[in-house]
Amino acid sequence: MAAPRGLMNAIQGAGFAGLTNHAYRTRREMMRRLLLFAAGSPLFAQQQPQQQPQQGTGPTITYPPAYSEEVMGPVNVLEMEDIAKKKIHKLAYDYIAGGVEDELTLRANLAAYTRVWLRRRVMVDVSKIDTSLELLGNKLDFPILLDPTGGKSLANPDADRIAAQAAFASKALYCVAAGGSWMEKLYAAGQAPLWWSNSIGLGAREFAQSFARRSEDAGCCGFIITMDYQYTPNKDRNNRNRYDYGYAATGIPGDRGKYQPRSPAVAAMLQPATPSMTWEVVNWLHGASNLPVILKAC
Ligand SMILES: Cc1cc2nc3c(=O)[nH]c(=O)nc-3n(C[C@H](O)[C@H](O)[C@H](O)COP(=O)(O)O)c2cc1C
Repeated sequence: MAAPRGLMNAIQGAGFAGLTNHAYRTRREMMRRLLLFAAGSPLFAQQQPQQQPQQGTGPTITYPPAYSEEVMGPVNVLEMEDIAKKKIHKLAYDYIAGGVEDELTLRANLAAYTRVWLRRRVMVDVSKIDTSLELLGNKLDFPILLDPTGGKSLANPDADRIAAQAAFASKALYCVAAGGSWMEKLYAAGQAPLWWSNSIGLGAREFAQSFARRSEDAGCCGFIITMDYQYTPNKDRNNRNRYDYGYAATGIPGDRGKYQPRSPAVAAMLQPATPSMTWEVVNWLHGASNLPVILKAC
């Protein structure tokens, strides 16, 4: 499932690596933030009354807000995948959870996380912790950013907006895969998170300029450009499912097993996305705006 993997990336890549100090408290804080983030999803809508700490003479225990059993059940991010598998269409699940080219990189990435170790500092006073940092001109309370993940709308048509609102509530930096007028509205209402605007393809100066203008008008504070989406990737699960990449825009039509793909994915299919994008895109964006340009791989 994308959100958990993206979140895990945020935690393990950005968060843990930068937070070897006071890791024990910080991990808990991150899990708490994650639960808050996940709780923004309509999958997990029913909030329960806040769990009250026990009265007594012992130390004060801080509990996260309590949500439904479904939300509070998983004890780590990966366990949320089981919930997603039960809730969303198989085609959507496979699109989100699947990797490219025999899923070798997917497995290698997961294995890589197991080689990241936290170095705990002991015998250091950790009763007051500051996890804040400055990132490309913005002050963050903690180093969590949510990767852009296009296609969340397969799980919920409003997924990007809901995730942005959850990021706002939990003060995470949000990378918007597919911004729209909803982002302008959130910004106008003072409810937009700190956000970077993602594009997987800006093959011409005028596209880059209008992307920069639209994003900046909606309060974005950085452009996060995907460098390697020249062609639609080769994903076995999507090919097996005859998945149609247009479903990200239209949703998956019909019942499971009865959908009618217009452009079904097949093995070794070559579907151009932005084959013409080059380093020029950085100059175009710098020419159109003073915001930072961040380059990433898909
Ligand atoms: C379902 C899904 C959709 C994604 N969509 C985008 C996208 O629109 N733009 C982008 O730059 N990266 C996209 N990515 C890549 C993620 O941003 C991220 O770089 C990648 O998943 C690696 O992080 P992970 O190991 O935590 O999954 C997507 C990943 C997934 C799983």
